[in-house]
Amino acid sequence: MSAKIKMNAAQTGAVINKNIYGHFSEHLGRCIYGGLFVGENSPIPNKNGMRTDVVEALRHIKVPVLRWPGGCFADEYHWEDGIGPREERKRMVNTHWGGVVEDNSFGTHEFMELCEQIGCEPYVNGNVGSGTVREMSEWVEYLNSPGDSTVVKRRWANGRKEPFNVKYWGVGNENWGCGGNMRPEFYGDLYRRFNTYCRNYGDNKLYRIACGPNVDDWAWMDGVMKVAGRFCDAITLHYYTHPHGWEEKGSATEFDGDEYYLTLRKTAYMEQLIKGHLAIMDKYDPRHKVGLIVDEWGTWYNVEPGTNPGFLYQQNTMRDAMVAAINLNIFNSHADRVVMANLAQMVNVLQAVILTDGDQMILTPTYHVFDLYKAHQDANLVPSTVACNEVEGVQQVTASASLKDGVLTVTAANVSCTDAEEVVLDIANFDAKDVSVRILTGDMHDMNTFENQNAVQIREFTDFTVNEQGIVLNMPACSVVEVTVRG
Ligand code: AHR
Repeated sequence: MSAKIKMNAAQTGAVINKNIYGHFSEHLGRCIYGGLFVGENSPIPNKNGMRTDVVEALRHIKVPVLRWPGGCFADEYHWEDGIGPREERKRMVNTHWGGVVEDNSFGTHEFMELCEQIGCEPYVNGNVGSGTVREMSEWVEYLNSPGDSTVVKRRWANGRKEPFNVKYWGVGNENWGCGGNMRPEFYGDLYRRFNTYCRNYGDNKLYRIACGPNVDDWAWMDGVMKVAGRFCDAITLHYYTHPHGWEEKGSATEFDGDEYYLTLRKTAYMEQLIKGHLAIMDKYDPRHKVGLIVDEWGTWYNVEPGTNPGFLYQQNTMRDAMVAAINLNIFNSHADRVVMANLAQMVNVLQAVILTDGDQMILTPTYHVFDLYKAHQDANLVPSTVACNEVEGVQQVTASASLKDGVLTVTAANVSCTDAEEVVLDIANFDAKDVSVRILTGDMHDMNTFENQNAVQIREFTDFTVNEQGIVLNMPACSVVEVTVRG
């Protein structure tokens, strides 16, 4: 039996918020330092300290939004340590991540510069765990106020006259854990207090983001929504794919078929999590004013042998490409409620899209999935159903479709690590005049390394026909496609 992806192009759904293709950069390991920022005096080519190779690659996948400075680091970060002359900035020990010295040479202005170069919106995560209401309030003022205040004059003195107009504002991170070990009602009250003093300036209206639960902590979602739901625009969810557990997470590169499918089964659990949390949100927000943001997702394995355990550096294989495809298809299918998602993390940390080593850079299989899916950004979802086999408890084919400017884009993954599959795209109400397909495929272990940088890359794919059934693709095992259909 072939797999069938069925859709009706005349029945479109919600707009897929481009921010679903968002990223996350924390002061952790070599994400910021070395990965994104090398400083103006580095021999590595850079513009104002930002790596030009990395920025160019990120522009290519159209990164829409970038979250910073953490993660757990956010609730230890004091923004005033990261402004002013670099040589005078405070040095601190990054106790969460590797115990290394953080010299604060990458701070607020550098982050804004990075976002400007990438062409994305900044999403700043403020400090509730160890910060003060005044500190957060003044950070917003520093960033966004056009007024002639003492705080704003510091921004002028640091070289920026115009306000930055930051919109996405997170009030704390993982406040159930590293962000203060709070209880939901307590955090809910703190959210209300901190949020009150985060002001809107000029025409810039903050998009206020509350800290939501980890995985299936339904009680946290319930407690925070009950107390703070009417004061926020969105609430977050964190869910990482650990093939095994926290203690022994498994290797990023050495795994067998069982572990491969275990990883994918755990990834597919995202669907149940989103549905479960949305149902709780509905109790307090029946009119769906509050969006869900999955601002940390991705695989989390053991670190690469010989690397700092606190740096969370891991390789990335075709298995990760499947994880990305499954998650992104789930997020797309909930386009009416999932308003943003942020892969953890952008460079050199966890399921990164880019790995660097000195002046070298490689694009991971996950990067290529983001490339294949970028046409969905701000397109209208075309709801689709997939009829296919199950392999080892996972749906063999996963897909999403969208329509933008008269172009239909279907992305699909055949997650079987052994079997090719005939996949039929049955599209009603669309005259497919011109079809082109790009593919990412390989053995489940395939990856790019600094020695073999393009082992995994996107190729044109021609093994398809267009007939009375629709568009019929012979998808190889372990593959992701982007099908572009012009009418
Ligand atoms: O992404 C790594 C860490 O995972 C983040 O700092 C934290 O928010 C989460 O626990």
